[in-house]
Amino acid sequence: MSSADPHAALAALDEERVDHRFKGLPPDASGTTVGALAAEGRNLFTGGFTTPVLALSAERLEHNLTLMKSYTERHGLAFAPHGKTSMAPQLFARQVAHGAWGITLAVPHQVRVARAFGIRRIFLGNEVVDPAALGWLSRELDADPDFRFICYVDSTEGVAQMDRALRGADRPLDVVVELAAGAEARTGVRTEAECEAVADAVAATSALRLVGVAGYEGEVPGANPAAVTAWLRRLTALAADFDAAGRFGELSEIVVSAGGSAWFDAVAEVFEDIPPLSKPVLKLLRSGAYVSHDDGQYRDRTPFNRVPEEGALQAAFTLWTQVVSRPTPHQAFLNAGKRDAAFDLHLPQPHTVRGPDGTTRPATGITVTSLSDQHAWVSTETATGLAVGDWVGLGLSHPCTIFDKWQLIPQTTADGTVTEYIRTFF
Ligand SMILES: Cc1ncc(COP(=O)(O)O)c(C=O)c1O
Repeated sequence: MSSADPHAALAALDEERVDHRFKGLPPDASGTTVGALAAEGRNLFTGGFTTPVLALSAERLEHNLTLMKSYTERHGLAFAPHGKTSMAPQLFARQVAHGAWGITLAVPHQVRVARAFGIRRIFLGNEVVDPAALGWLSRELDADPDFRFICYVDSTEGVAQMDRALRGADRPLDVVVELAAGAEARTGVRTEAECEAVADAVAATSALRLVGVAGYEGEVPGANPAAVTAWLRRLTALAADFDAAGRFGELSEIVVSAGGSAWFDAVAEVFEDIPPLSKPVLKLLRSGAYVSHDDGQYRDRTPFNRVPEEGALQAAFTLWTQVVSRPTPHQAFLNAGKRDAAFDLHLPQPHTVRGPDGTTRPATGITVTSLSDQHAWVSTETATGLAVGDWVGLGLSHPCTIFDKWQLIPQTTADGTVTEYIRTFF
């Protein structure tokens, strides 16, 4: 089956019923459609939403999309934002509308989601050795000449399994050799000599076609600017060596891909130095976390801290929670926990308190010290005036584990008006 009509698939999201499946949405809206609820333009604070509720800032999201569009254009990079971060087809469509070449994904199921919403170019940052998944991919490629798909290969054994599973396909599957980010890193071929052996194995198949090299500098052990840059130079040298050896003979372009949201400045710098090769080079950046940015990991690690003159991303999520218990002057409990907030890298950080009359103040003196499944443990200084019933806005760390806890996320403007609901598919 070829890909869905993207407009029809996205429009169908508006027809979905709002009900108990979606946390935080107004109980009195149950039974209405998502599109009709969005058209009501309810206010997040006064429109009947229940806490905890995750809100995505419309302005900040747009800012991040626009900033990375201009950043990648300025640095001559093609962009395939990693879609595993949001798994939100509405955001994929906006990323493509903001000039993205395509979408990066991690596993075949995610490719199915993207294809159901008409994404035409997909980079899979993994080797695929599942015969059922390869069979589906091959049928998808054969049915749709406009579908461009590229994935990693990382061993001769993997290549052999892929070749067996794909035999008889009309179109070869495009692959890039994954160079590991170090001997102790995650996936990827460890040495250049082994990369050549994997490339030889690909060349010996009829089902696979070598189109370039790739890797993920985010896995460089003990990553620092010098180590990341050195690894990126290995990657681009590998591309040049493969090209000099005539490994990209029939192609119209060579793919060189790296880059998450922590080191795209180094990727831009090293990719700019790629010498002229025998074909044009598609320099593909794959940042994902940039889309919502965050109040923790990526706030601390964004490349814009090193190059502030190039801009700054904005944290777009706030998790709105409510004080449900205030047992002592030093303790408070919020009604959101591990089910609702990312907690794998850092604890949530309170930034705003909203009283029952709608007045807001900074959450000074209020610290989350631990999370239970459904509670945040908060320590308070006595002067905070925090009361049962107050709403507390939390900043969160790690976009990938924020998105995946919410299936329908209100997108709000600065005054709290919900303009759209972002559906995720995890
Ligand atoms: C292979 C690969 N590419 C790109 C990315 C995107 O990086 P980030 O989440 O920092 O944006 C990831 C993230 O884990 C990844 O594993």
